[in-house]
Amino acid sequence: MWFLLIFSFFGALIFGLFCIARLSRGITRSNSCLIGKTAIITGANSGLGYQTTLNLAARGCRIIMADVADMEKSKQNVIKFTNNTNILTKKLDLSSLQSVREFAADIIKTEERLDILINNAGIVGSLENRTKDDLHPAMQINYFGHFLLTHLLIDLLKKSAPSRIIFTSSLLAFVNNLSLDNFNFDCSTSQMNKISREWLIYGNNKLAVIIASDIFAQKLKGTEVTSNCIHPGLVKTPIFTRTHTVMENCLHEMFFTCCNFFFAKDAWEGSQTLVHVAVSKKLQRETGKYFVDCKPFVKPRLAYDQQFCQEIWKASEKYVRLEEHEKL
Ligand SMILES: NC(=O)c1ccc[n+]([C@@H]2O[C@H](COP(=O)([O-])OP(=O)(O)OC[C@H]3O[C@@H](n4cnc5c(N)ncnc54)[C@H](OP(=O)(O)O)[C@@H]3O)[C@@H](O)[C@H]2O)c1
Repeated sequence: MWFLLIFSFFGALIFGLFCIARLSRGITRSNSCLIGKTAIITGANSGLGYQTTLNLAARGCRIIMADVADMEKSKQNVIKFTNNTNILTKKLDLSSLQSVREFAADIIKTEERLDILINNAGIVGSLENRTKDDLHPAMQINYFGHFLLTHLLIDLLKKSAPSRIIFTSSLLAFVNNLSLDNFNFDCSTSQMNKISREWLIYGNNKLAVIIASDIFAQKLKGTEVTSNCIHPGLVKTPIFTRTHTVMENCLHEMFFTCCNFFFAKDAWEGSQTLVHVAVSKKLQRETGKYFVDCKPFVKPRLAYDQQFCQEIWKASEKYVRLEEHEKL
């Protein structure tokens, strides 16, 4: 009897959550044409970045697909599905400050304009503890690399204004312990269990992304360059299974498989908020916002602490070794 009651309760709960997850999926209604515009999308080879590339390419946008892997197959697919041949691929390894600088220098030399910068690439968990730049790999790919890239491309964005910067964050930014002391997490001294640590680092770098997006928005006021960030939802992409550091036991894997099965969006649905913030005419002047399901959403508490945010910004400038003249 008790077993039946508990079983029905959890069944109803999962069904309720399933319905909420299905009904609350934001879809962009914007039909904006992007002929004559240029967009850079990082992490364009897979998941949300690839779907966003498809969507913007179908609107006639010139796309620079930026990724660490060989993108030829993805590029050919985008051309095949959209008939847009104005698609370029350029190698960008966000785990290397030098690669980010080389990529930006190449863009500035070869491109006349940049209307949309989508800082989307990301990882969860990493096998290494440090990159060549002595940064934590997930912090560098998800946050520091994009922080530097945006600085280096800011003049081109200003020249092409009205233009937009969009950062992909995550709702997991609400689960963080970000401080100046653990900003560039030192794994070798951490007593924390590896899986919890990787998730916390993910939450921390996604919070840093929200903070940077907000400060870019403040510093760019009056330039017609907007800066916003988004959470795409839980989306069925390879990100959580790519590095097995966050799926070390089968309970974890079962939990994720169930969540994916019942609640996750597909990559097309997941890309809708990114596309919406990148193209919607209604959002032309919106800046400093955090969007979930195509609507503004509250940010984690620390993102409203101006003093803390300024300290994080200053520390980021040091970590990515910005020259004085490159600072905003
Ligand atoms: N999926 C979700 O449920 C979810 C939820 C919240 C937020 N997000 C965020 O959404 C963004 C996109 O993730 P996704 O789900 O689409 O995952 P994904 O399919 O794994 O895509 C991530 C992309 O980032 C690229 N990348 C990885 N390391 C890189 C590096 N060093 N330099 C340049 N590019 C690199 C990957 O390149 P290769 O594949 O070519 O190696 C891949 O194209 C991430 O920022 C993620 O944190 C995802």
